[in-house]
Amino acid sequence: MRRKTGITLGAVAWLASAAAWAKKFDEMPYKIDGGFDVPMSTIAGLTEWTRDINYVYLITTVIVAVIFLAVALPLIYTLYKFRAKEGDDTPPKQLHGNVILEFLWTVIPAVLLIFIAVPTWKIIFKHDGLPARADAIKVHVVGHQWWWEFQYPDLGITTAYELHLPENTPVDLSITSADVYHAFWIPKFGGKTSAIQGNINRLSLTSPLARLPEVAGGDYYQGQCVELCGTSHALMRHVGVVHTKEGFERWVKAHNQPPKVETASQREGEQVFARCIACHAIEGTPSASIPGDKIGPNLSSFGSRSHLAGGTRKNTEENLAIWLRNPQGLKPGVLMPNLALTEPEIAALTAYLRQSTYKTY
Ligand code: CUA
Repeated sequence: MRRKTGITLGAVAWLASAAAWAKKFDEMPYKIDGGFDVPMSTIAGLTEWTRDINYVYLITTVIVAVIFLAVALPLIYTLYKFRAKEGDDTPPKQLHGNVILEFLWTVIPAVLLIFIAVPTWKIIFKHDGLPARADAIKVHVVGHQWWWEFQYPDLGITTAYELHLPENTPVDLSITSADVYHAFWIPKFGGKTSAIQGNINRLSLTSPLARLPEVAGGDYYQGQCVELCGTSHALMRHVGVVHTKEGFERWVKAHNQPPKVETASQREGEQVFARCIACHAIEGTPSASIPGDKIGPNLSSFGSRSHLAGGTRKNTEENLAIWLRNPQGLKPGVLMPNLALTEPEIAALTAYLRQSTYKTY
């Protein structure tokens, strides 16, 4: 009896700690502070889509738990009840086949699978077939080896790594790839979506409410490419950044402002950047008027981004210099060549690129 009470208390304590842990994740709108150790909790989602996924998850968990008990309890009982007894050498009764049992253990799982499949299909079709709302913010999401591009056709903005959104607003994402298969995933926003060249996977969701005061520059939700896409797949990260409506407007207004060129170092950096413009553009500078698709990320407002190199390093002067000295060192296989820049050139380029009118770091 005492043992049973102990086991029950243990189970209750374990469940309580698991619930507290899940709640901690749920209450964690955070500003990424470098490193890879930020939680990407899929069970503590913030959109209707994640809630729907969790509903199917719950149904599945309950059914699986019932099956587990229905199998494990009789098994334990049988092992105990029919164990070999000392001095009893009688062989157990031999059986071959039992039509009723075989029928039951075929039909019951089939019925249970229907119970799981129907809500799963319902939710897949509900979210797959969502038409774009007229008031939705449209974003084209393009996976590249190994970084994410976000284009806002109605706002004239092209950026990388950070998907900025106003809070509580319908969002229409058109997801594709410029090269191999990638997959877009911000666990707190919803399920994984494949990014396939020549194909557009649409995703409609409503952005969550902003939680941190806007002065912190929005709430950051970590994402990660979840389709093995080459050498640096693990280094292909992205974030969803949720702003208040005013905060988002400020971001939009500031995003395409060219970097300020005030100091001698920034002026020199502007000169050095002329060597980058075949692959990179900065709005409001001559680099933006070169026709054709750029292979590298658009660097407008680069200074305001929290991370660089596909989200692998915090966007600091030091890390940008490390990147410029040898991009392959941070992201093996990246298309950006080592430009053999001198240290003064790197310092100047860093001073120029890290300027941004929307600077929150
Ligand atoms: Cu892109 Cu993995």
